[in-house]
Amino acid sequence: MSKILVITASPRGERSVSRALSTQFAQLWAQQHPQDTVLLRDLGHHPVPHVTEPWVVGAFAPPEAQTPESKAAIAVSDQLVDEFLSCDRFILGVPMYNLNIPSTFKAYIDQIVRAGKTFAVGPNGYEGLVKGKKAVFITSSGGSFAAGSPFAPFNFQEPYLRAIFGFIGVTDVQFIIADSLNQGEDPARLSRQKAEDALKELATTW
Ligand SMILES: Cc1cc2nc3c(=O)[nH]c(=O)nc-3n(C[C@H](O)[C@H](O)[C@H](O)COP(=O)(O)O)c2cc1C
Repeated sequence: MSKILVITASPRGERSVSRALSTQFAQLWAQQHPQDTVLLRDLGHHPVPHVTEPWVVGAFAPPEAQTPESKAAIAVSDQLVDEFLSCDRFILGVPMYNLNIPSTFKAYIDQIVRAGKTFAVGPNGYEGLVKGKKAVFITSSGGSFAAGSPFAPFNFQEPYLRAIFGFIGVTDVQFIIADSLNQGEDPARLSRQKAEDALKELATTW
């Protein structure tokens, strides 16, 4: 029995492609694994706080330097880390915003990438502590950044997500990409259909 964390980062509701596709994937998965638990974290509609000065004190200062504010700020992060670590698999619906991820998702990453909790610094350098987990990223973008295309170097979203999740140890990652969504009806429909086909297949083998 697994625990699945579904994270959505689009501020849009029904019109959001990344939200619709990640929800579809989660539903397909749940149908086939009714014993699994599915948790939802909707960053698009319920953002988590940004890192603040009290947060930095809470994360890095010694106990005697802690204040009520630093304890409260880091308690939010601790809770998000605990939730993340309690899950075995992650389904992440992430739009492309300005060639990268939305700031709501970046704020979440800043809360869960924590020294001593999700990564460690040892004699051999950095080590990810989140081991044995799987993630599928379902991304959406108005344009296309396909490998080999002139715009591929502008895609900071997929490389960043691979790097930061890999940094904390989540290296078993898959990408389902719905792109060209703002390039006319036909390209958008085709791309979405391709993404739906891919997620249906992945839901049986993941
Ligand atoms: C603030 C903002 C920035 C965006 N930046 C990009 C971008 O850099 N490249 C791109 O291809 N599409 C960009 N888009 C288009 C979105 O990626 C596209 O509409 C996508 O479908 C949004 O995801 P959603 O449908 O899940 O809401 C941007 C949209 C918004 C609102």
